[in-house]
Amino acid sequence: MSLHDSDEISQNVHWTSRLLLSAMLTAFCSGVLAQDVNTSKPARGLEQRMPADPQLAELYRYSCKACHAVPASSAPLTGDMEAWKPRMAKGVDVLVQHAIEGFGGMPPLGFCMECSRAELAALIIFMASPPAQ
Ligand code: HEC
Repeated sequence: MSLHDSDEISQNVHWTSRLLLSAMLTAFCSGVLAQDVNTSKPARGLEQRMPADPQLAELYRYSCKACHAVPASSAPLTGDMEAWKPRMAKGVDVLVQHAIEGFGGMPPLGFCMECSRAELAALIIFMASPPAQ
């Protein structure tokens, strides 16, 4: 095989992977868009709910909210009393422990590496409270 041939092969591989990548991106984006259309209405109030405390709101925005305000995730949603009732029945201490260690689909610390135990407890109580009228 000449040097030229192998150049051509690597060009072809390059193009195939680019095509594959763009097909994957298209599939991914249309999935995300379709999901957005389906869930945008019930998600609207959820999107806006934030802890009153600014520091807690910041932690919530960059961690818990990514799942606990997304109806398509299997996380108990913020303000969804039905979903939180059986969980709160375990006691806040157990829930904090589960938040730290991870629990089922819930990743350890909910990706909030800087969250203290007290902040996790406050975030959980916020999520498990009914929406303000
Ligand atoms: C990557 C998504 C994700 C993030 C981020 C996330 N959670 Fe969760 N969380 C879940 C899912 C999914 C469940 C349901 C787990 C189950 O029951 O299998 C859950 C469940 C919980 C539970 C209930 C545990 C129990 O014992 O029933 C608590 C408490 C909780 N999350 C707190 C938090 C807090 C606090 C944050 C932010 C610091 C957070 N989560 C961030 C996905 C997430």
